[in-house]
Amino acid sequence: MDAVADHYGGDSLAQKLAEGLRKAGKDMDRLTTGDLATVDEFHIRGRKATLELAQELKLSAASHVLDMGSGLGGPARTLAETFGCHVTGIDLTPAFCEAATTLSAWVGLSNRVDFRQGDATRLPFDAAAFDAAMTIHVAMNIAAKDRMYAEAKRVLKPGGRFGIYDVLQGEGGEVHFPVPWAREPSISHLATPDEMVALLKDAGFTLVQVEDSTETSQQWFEAMAARMQAAPPPVTFEAFLGGDFSAMARNQVANLKERRIRTVRFVCEA
Ligand SMILES: C[S@@+](CC[C@H](N)C(=O)[O-])C[C@H]1O[C@@H](n2cnc3c(N)ncnc32)[C@H](O)[C@@H]1O
Repeated sequence: MDAVADHYGGDSLAQKLAEGLRKAGKDMDRLTTGDLATVDEFHIRGRKATLELAQELKLSAASHVLDMGSGLGGPARTLAETFGCHVTGIDLTPAFCEAATTLSAWVGLSNRVDFRQGDATRLPFDAAAFDAAMTIHVAMNIAAKDRMYAEAKRVLKPGGRFGIYDVLQGEGGEVHFPVPWAREPSISHLATPDEMVALLKDAGFTLVQVEDSTETSQQWFEAMAARMQAAPPPVTFEAFLGGDFSAMARNQVANLKERRIRTVRFVCEA
């Protein structure tokens, strides 16, 4: 657990992001969620992928949504802004929870999102507390996926939807490290698509949709790597992943191209 939080955490994260944004000429009093999107949607295909997942969750302004592994809070803010719902995020990494709270204040969404530090395999919430739940690019760090999905099922109201968008083990062989979720294999735990289907069914979910986006993810990563070289945006994942993010990005392109990893969306019902 500590190794995972150490991999992601860093000092003064919000301060570093504020410096980058100011340097790029952004007015911190008029910041929008779009200004943060290059760094706070920490997954392949960014905000677009979050919205694709969210469309399947049957959300309304009255919904209370759980985001398991909420990171810097980008996906939670995207849902709160788009649907007017309330999102509670939980994340293992204390530095991310603090930064998520600060970033939400910057864009005026503090009243619709809240973040707390905790473990997705042991949720500090009552049974049937949420209308919907999602998790984006998190289970790659979690060996006990059975416990994670059993917890998602427990805290959802009956019939509530659970959306998962994750990096899975592909058929092309072992992953090239470092990758954004791990510098070496000890904190990387990828399930195959078939294992995911079995895990979700065993947790008591009914599967509604399975959508593989590997091809599009490969194109997105290639375009992002080119953009980063040509004209890097004011804030990037380097703010917390450090200098080896470029090596991680190169490996991700190869991992996707060689089908060592796949990106897949699962939508199920409790
Ligand atoms: C790649 S980031 C994705 C963050 C966010 N979902 C997003 O898409 O922007 C993975 C996140 O999972 C969190 N995480 C890893 N293991 C966890 C666990 N057992 N419980 C809660 N969060 C966890 C990490 O701290 C990190 O914030």
